[in-house]
Amino acid sequence: MNELWKYIGENEVNEENIGDLAEFKRSQVNYRLTYFDVRTNGVRYLKTLIYNLAGRLSEENWDRLRRISGRELGRPFAVTYDGESVDLDYLRAVRDLEFIERNVDLDGARVLEIGAGYGRTCHTLMSNKDISGYTVIDLPTTMALSRKYLREVLPDEQFKKVTFISVDEIETSLGDAVFDLCINIDSLAEMDVETVRYYLSLIAGRGRHFYTNNPVGKYMDKSLDDHARGEDAIARALDAGPLTDVIDVHDNRAVREQARGFVAAYRPHDSWHCVADEWAEPFTWYWQALFRAPAARR
Ligand SMILES: C[S@@+](CC[C@H](N)C(=O)[O-])C[C@H]1O[C@@H](n2cnc3c(N)ncnc32)[C@H](O)[C@@H]1O
Repeated sequence: MNELWKYIGENEVNEENIGDLAEFKRSQVNYRLTYFDVRTNGVRYLKTLIYNLAGRLSEENWDRLRRISGRELGRPFAVTYDGESVDLDYLRAVRDLEFIERNVDLDGARVLEIGAGYGRTCHTLMSNKDISGYTVIDLPTTMALSRKYLREVLPDEQFKKVTFISVDEIETSLGDAVFDLCINIDSLAEMDVETVRYYLSLIAGRGRHFYTNNPVGKYMDKSLDDHARGEDAIARALDAGPLTDVIDVHDNRAVREQARGFVAAYRPHDSWHCVADEWAEPFTWYWQALFRAPAARR
């Protein structure tokens, strides 16, 4: 036995810690035998996930990814795969674009995104397609970030095509603008139901297509994050969005069962048609759908 295993035997894998076997696979005993301590190895698991997803990325998606320069701004957790740096945000973004492109012709498109975060989707679309204008509606606080980020990563002539509209000036700033594609990723599910209704009717009134990528429901599994943001945060999250059923988000059948409700909840108007919907890999409880306005509106 070397020094390493002498230490492990004395401190980690031993009769006393093994106990009655009830929980040993979630304890230091097994973290020394088969996998890494889940509490302290978030980055390791994240990189493992990215690496595995990168290995399955299609040629078209590698091309989409390579066209996006400046992805390293902000120092994302990334892996290198076939010489290319890949992080989870853009890996998801190119796959979102792949799904959208299957159903919408984006050349010359006018795009509206509600809740853009730091702007990865805008960056991805502007770098890959001939987008004629990209409008972001967001809270002024978050928009301070997307404005700063997109100014850095987009060439001047592309950045000039991005319009930033704060939530308190939507109607006045939008004027009579209409959009070929409206996008909402991971944010309507965090808004009040009245706000969700407002945005869906805005989309129904001004859009031709709507892409949504959001959770199908809520969860209450403390083992996932030890409720690290506190119980108040849990209560706020459980209440938000159009889909508040608590489900086992790591049960594929439970997630799939919610998908019908997802498509119904995000349809901008009864007259809109759902063109495609499917699981939005990799997070288990995210679904994506693409809706199209009735022919008269197109
Ligand atoms: C979890 S982030 C997702 C960001 C981005 N879509 C992404 O996936 O990278 C949620 C976004 O919704 C925005 N948001 C929250 N409440 C909003 C509201 N009432 N109107 C518009 N955007 C809102 C946040 O500022 C943020 O940009």
